Amino acid sequence: MEGERLRKHDGSDLFHASFLAAPLHGRDEERARLTLALQRIQVTGTPEVMMISGRGGVGKSSLARWLLDQARGEDAAIGEGKCYQLNSEIPYAAVARAIRMLTLNALGKAQDELDQLSQRWLDLLSGHGSSITELVPEARHVLGSSFAPISVLAPQGQERIARALTRTLEAFSGLGRPTLVLLDDLQWADEATLSFLEAFIAAPPNNVLLIGTYRDDDPGFDCVPRRGV
Ligand SMILES: Nc1ncnc2c1ncn2[C@@H]1O[C@H](COP(=O)(O)OP(=O)(O)OP(=O)(O)O)[C@@H](O)[C@H]1O
Ligand SMILES: [Mg+2]
Repeated sequence: MEGERLRKHDGSDLFHASFLAAPLHGRDEERARLTLALQRIQVTGTPEVMMISGRGGVGKSSLARWLLDQARGEDAAIGEGKCYQLNSEIPYAAVARAIRMLTLNALGKAQDELDQLSQRWLDLLSGHGSSITELVPEARHVLGSSFAPISVLAPQGQERIARALTRTLEAFSGLGRPTLVLLDDLQWADEATLSFLEAFIAAPPNNVLLIGTYRDDDPGFDCVPRRGV
């Protein structure tokens, strides 16, 4: 429990295993497929969703993070969020973590780049910024905080929130600069994250490559493919 709480607040999502992980061995075929997906998104901007499934400990997260490392070297925007078994009732938790990481990374960029992001993000949100700032308070540093409040728990708001989340992912991309988002351990995804995924697949934003991983030997896995994800 203590570990879970710390993970939520100390920003360690940012530093993940990427530069602590042991080098990846083998997996040539899987790496080739992921590399092609990265090239496609860089060249065409056509959005894609890739799911990596397998039993616990088989190497799903390592493979997905390997791709993020490749993309990071090519100036892609990277967001990563993990689902936790004990947090599965928190709405949109994993996607909010991914957006938090994208935001914090952007805050480290030059002011003119940040201004461009701010304009693009606000335009894409068209007035629905509070859906984002309620889930990711750090986004106020880019978007400001003068939006009318809405509740992220209100069922009638779900569609609007899902749209705001997908547009947010799009906002971080630029010409030839895709956004890569990893949602790890989707077998533990909360209901709202699964509905976000459905909305993403129904109307995927340009320039975004979404990678999901899930254990197919966990009782929770069933809801991922069953929800059409
Ligand atoms: N191809 C590989 N080469 C070297 N080490 C690997 C490889 N794949 C996985 N590992 C190592 O195996 C361990 C488990 O890998 P990883 O966490 O990626 O598995 P997972 O499928 O995501 O597990 P879980 O289902 O628990 O999330 C890690 O220590 C990782 O470094
Ligand atoms: Mg994993």
